[in-house]
Amino acid sequence: MRRRTAPDSFDPAAVRPWNDRISGLGFGGDYNPEQWPERVRLEDLELMREAGVNLLSVAIFAWATIEPREGELEWGWLDDTMDRLHDAGIRVALATATASPPPWLTRKHPEILPRMADGTVMHQGGRQSYAVTHPVHREYALRMATRMAERYKSHPALALWHVDNEIGCHVPRDYSDAAAAAFREWLRARYGTVENLNEAWGTAFWSQRYGSFDDVLPPLVAPTFANPTQQLDFDRFSSDALLDYYRDLRDALRAITPHVPTTTNLMASSHTKGMDYFTWAPELDVVANDHYTVAANPDRHVELAFSADLSRGIAGGDPWILMEHSTSAVNWQPRNRSKLPGELLRNSLQHVARGADSVMFFQWRASAAGAEKYHSAMVPHAGTDTDVWRDVVNLGRALRALGEVRGSRVRSRAAMVVDWPSWWGAELDAHPTQALRYMDQVQAWYAALWRLGVTVDLVPPGADLDGYGLVVLPTTYLVTDADAANVAAAAERGATVAITYFSGVVDSRDHVRLGGYPGAFRDLLGARTEEFFPLLQGETVRVEGKVVGGTATADLWTEKTHVADGTEVVATYDDGALRGWPAITRRPVGAHGSAWYAATRLDEAGLVALAAHLVDEAGVGPDVAAPPGVEVVRRWSDDGTTSWLFAINHTESEAMLGSGDAPVQGTELLTDTGVAGTLRVPAGAVRVVRTG
Ligand code: GLA
Repeated sequence: MRRRTAPDSFDPAAVRPWNDRISGLGFGGDYNPEQWPERVRLEDLELMREAGVNLLSVAIFAWATIEPREGELEWGWLDDTMDRLHDAGIRVALATATASPPPWLTRKHPEILPRMADGTVMHQGGRQSYAVTHPVHREYALRMATRMAERYKSHPALALWHVDNEIGCHVPRDYSDAAAAAFREWLRARYGTVENLNEAWGTAFWSQRYGSFDDVLPPLVAPTFANPTQQLDFDRFSSDALLDYYRDLRDALRAITPHVPTTTNLMASSHTKGMDYFTWAPELDVVANDHYTVAANPDRHVELAFSADLSRGIAGGDPWILMEHSTSAVNWQPRNRSKLPGELLRNSLQHVARGADSVMFFQWRASAAGAEKYHSAMVPHAGTDTDVWRDVVNLGRALRALGEVRGSRVRSRAAMVVDWPSWWGAELDAHPTQALRYMDQVQAWYAALWRLGVTVDLVPPGADLDGYGLVVLPTTYLVTDADAANVAAAAERGATVAITYFSGVVDSRDHVRLGGYPGAFRDLLGARTEEFFPLLQGETVRVEGKVVGGTATADLWTEKTHVADGTEVVATYDDGALRGWPAITRRPVGAHGSAWYAATRLDEAGLVALAAHLVDEAGVGPDVAAPPGVEVVRRWSDDGTTSWLFAINHTESEAMLGSGDAPVQGTELLTDTGVAGTLRVPAGAVRVVRTG
């Protein structure tokens, strides 16, 4: 895709930190004063002072308020907002106001509307109704971003640019003509010749050979399975196209305010499949993430921890901004659950424990009208005589007490690979089983390690794996030769590497690596699968072996696996079609390393037992033991002399941490009390101890 505004003179070193004029941690949320009369806006300032708010995202959905008719600009309310916030000591993450085009724009240019795979047009009336690739939309969006930058470039409240909003949230895949043209351009750049594309897409199959790039379409609804590599490339292209939109707007801002950092709010979690955020990270001056717990998930606090760790992984370990979460219920799930007492603080400090330097919400004040009026906010409909408001004020106090953790980092000796191309590839249609969901496996392993108290870094497969004692690759279906070699090298250096079923099966073109599965890891594992044996719905098999705790149950997937000399079979199937065949294998690698293959999906107890064995072998267990349901994470100062131990009690009983051989000592910051050996964490409470 073309680059438009790249300012040649841009100097990354001149970008100031987003929080250089904020003391301690950031605290605030989305602020939408355009929804409210003056009287309420004035009250907002009072309440923000009371809560200790110091950072707000402003003007995210303000395009139609700023420009109700083309070219007629109403800046007064935003000028006032910026001035008043500045006077109140609050800094602003100012949006480009482009997150939803105004009605006049889509009426004048209906060609900018995005389309679904079946050709359905997504009209104006909700939000985000634009095709990111459409040149007309791009022109208008750039104009809007440029106006914002010109108007507020010298405003002292401006701390950070917030580009658009959750780019790709509602339209991760657009099948419009503009997208089709951009896809062809992307394919030309990737493949050079149409023959290369034919080779990569395997178009000798089903008469799909292309004579020209002009014949190529996005994977629209078709009579049967669309070409898998076409689908995979469309996933890659779409992620790149969304990023290109961000980059173009960012460059327009940089050209005017080169010293102001730029970000956009990501949605890194177990359910955001659309965007490969590891490829986005280098384009962001600071990583910002939005996270909402899912009411139907009883382990929602574990999934929250996953999202926070993924944000840190995307940030390459740097501190990041929690740009949105909710004070209580959301309004977009089938049944929306309100948070219980203490939950807001626990959720917020889980993010901080895992690297967030800011805690923000959608939104400051609950709307009285519009589609999100039943979404919780910092100021609820019922006002300030409410538990939510008291919790918000209390959270502000807690964040001030924790100001010193800002800039510190989590350190981990365990890594788990998260890989969007594998996510896309593993879930393509016409596979051995449609029941395999990539994230299920990632979540299961993450939860097992969480239960064992092991903090993991979530990294892409090509990451620097030096320094990790344990490296887990759950269902890493698609790997390049280089990434496979990177993983093997970690084992050679002494790491315990664990790889699960349906990994390393294809190359980056989704071509099967021949000679037996899991092709890319066959040599490392000393294992060769001749055939997959997926299980039917409800079908289970017994797995026997000390490493799974004696006997475990497995479902979904089994494989007929042969082991090479030197590879140990550590668990076998005890019934079913593959009775007696290996279920889990281990190959010693180098002087101290090992490579484990788990060829089936274990139940929770079996997986925790296996994970415990691996953690033990790798020596990456927690330094402070905690009872089940008590989350312990540590952030460290850069020089390693000080650490902050976060203990988050998700249970209904009091917990005691620290024992004779591993005492907890230091100062507890939320209660400002000394801790001499044992830390008491009341039911549902959080404690943060500065040590060193
Ligand atoms: C997203 C959006 C917000 C709001 C929240 C509601 O995070 O960015 O504008 O819609 O969801 O949960």
